[in-house]
Amino acid sequence: MQEYKPFKEGKVREVYDLSESLLIVATDRISAFDVILKNDVPDKGKILTQMSKFWFDFTKDVVKNHMESTETADLPEFFQNDRFEGRSMKCKKLSMLPIECIVRGYITGTGWASYQESGKVCGIDLPAGLVESDKLPEPIYTPTTKAELGLHDEHITFEESVTLLEKQYPGKGADYAAKIRDLTIALYRKCADYAREKGIIIADTKFEFGLDENGEVVLGDEMLTPDSSRFWPADSYQPGQGQPSFDKQFVRDYLKAHPEADYKLPADIVEKTVAKYREAYQLLTGKAFVS
Ligand SMILES: Nc1ncnc2c1ncn2[C@@H]1O[C@H](COP(=O)(O)OP(=O)(O)O)[C@@H](O)[C@H]1O
Ligand SMILES: [Mg+2]
Repeated sequence: MQEYKPFKEGKVREVYDLSESLLIVATDRISAFDVILKNDVPDKGKILTQMSKFWFDFTKDVVKNHMESTETADLPEFFQNDRFEGRSMKCKKLSMLPIECIVRGYITGTGWASYQESGKVCGIDLPAGLVESDKLPEPIYTPTTKAELGLHDEHITFEESVTLLEKQYPGKGADYAAKIRDLTIALYRKCADYAREKGIIIADTKFEFGLDENGEVVLGDEMLTPDSSRFWPADSYQPGQGQPSFDKQFVRDYLKAHPEADYKLPADIVEKTVAKYREAYQLLTGKAFVS
């Protein structure tokens, strides 16, 4: 049997090279305040993989995506076991565009800080009088570079994204830049409207696109999981203050109250957190998560 090693280990996901395809495996690792915690959250990786699958299916009429299969039966023998079951997505290998496509529907985090200082977020003028966590009149596109390992992604304007892509794809950069911006907004609108009806506010999120062998723009990476997005519970939404995270509220509250815990969570916090991931999955898909 051929053995495989991930060629890339992110904080939370592992990526394997299957020549024509990639295999993205979501582990049960969880991060909070930019630190990987000492506990795993059982089933988190499976739930997030199935959530991405749901969204890729939900938006396949908006844009082609990289998902090929989430069945281990479609994978080499090495992967046909419990370790990979449910948490693996076989994806079409793409040539990734060097932009993180961020879209914000609500004002929070660094966006809120920047608005208070200048009335702008990433160079975009916003109406006066917004309060923290307000819904924006229209979702805004605030791309960043995709930094090399260890460096921070940097905010760029739309025009800078054109320049960056023109450099890499002469004569086509402007088209690609406009296309990924428009797709980002369209995907966000469709999915955030849907999620809002189901009781989850998707305050912001990040998409990544790549090119297939025909130069067509295809949606890649993970899609609209709580790891790539800010999910808020809609029932307690109250502008004028920060909102609790849908999934990490117990984790963050615990870590703040227990700095001595050194990023290790007690069992009840882990259990409550698993329950939040299950709840998000069920609210969004209408189905209970079965592991
Ligand atoms: N279809 C794809 N083809 C090629 N690369 C992809 C595809 N989908 C996602 N990727 C890349 O795989 C990597 C996944 O790594 P990830 O776990 O997110 O770590 P990080 O974001 O820290 O690099 C990212 O670099 C992402 O751009
Ligand atoms: Mg990533």
